[in-house]
Amino acid sequence: MGNYSEHIIPHNHYVKREDREKRRAHKSKVLWFTGLSGSGKSTLANGLEAYLHHHGLSTYILDGDNIRTGLNKDLDFSDNSRKENIRRIAEVARLFLDAGVIVLTAFISPFKEDRANAKAVIGANDFIEVHVDCPLEVCEARDVKGLYKKARAGEIQHFTGIDSPFEEPEEPEIRVNTAANSLEKCLEELRNKIELKIRL
Ligand code: ADX
Repeated sequence: MGNYSEHIIPHNHYVKREDREKRRAHKSKVLWFTGLSGSGKSTLANGLEAYLHHHGLSTYILDGDNIRTGLNKDLDFSDNSRKENIRRIAEVARLFLDAGVIVLTAFISPFKEDRANAKAVIGANDFIEVHVDCPLEVCEARDVKGLYKKARAGEIQHFTGIDSPFEEPEEPEIRVNTAANSLEKCLEELRNKIELKIRL
C-alpha cells in the first residue's frame, strides 16, 4: 500500500470540536476499557453508557465483538491483526471525539505498545484508560461465551490469557476489579471518576 500523505492537505473546518462540545454541553472523552475476555468490559461500558445517555449526554460504544463483524472483519487474532484492530479503533475514536461524543471502547487491547499508540493518536488529555481487572481464573469460570473451554481444548488458538499474553496496564486512570466488587459498585466508581472529566 502506498503512502500518499505528502499530497494530502487537510481542510480546516469552520465548526470545531469546541463548538460541538458547547452544543452538547459536555466535553468529549475516550474511555478505553481494557481487560481479559469475560472481565466485564462490555457490561461496564453498556451500564455506563446507559447512565450517561439517560442524563442527556452524547455517547457511543465501540465494541470488539461488534466491530469485528464489520469494519474489522478482515482481522484475526494474530499479534499483527490485534495491532491493526487497535490502530483503527483509535482512529475511529478520534473522529468521534472530534464530533463531541463520549466514546467508550471495549477491546481486550492486550499489548501495552498498542494502548500507548492509541493514547498518542487520541491525545493524552482525552484518553482515559480503564483497566477492567479480573483474574483469569474468574473469567474462565464465568466463560460466558464458552470460548475459554474451546481454547483449553485447542479449538481456538492465540486466545488471550491462554496462549496469547495480556500485558496489564501499570498506571491506568481507573481500575475496577469486577471479581471483588459488584457491577453496581464498579459503575458507581466509574460514574464518580468521570463526572468531573466530562464537565464543560
Ligand atoms: S483484541 O485483542 O484485538 O483487542 P477484541 O477485543 O477485538 O480483541 O476481540 C475480543 C473478542 O473476540 C473476545 O471477547 C472473544 O469473544 C472473541 N475472540 C475470539 N477469538 C479470540 C482469541 N483468540 N483471543 C481473544 N478473544 C477472542
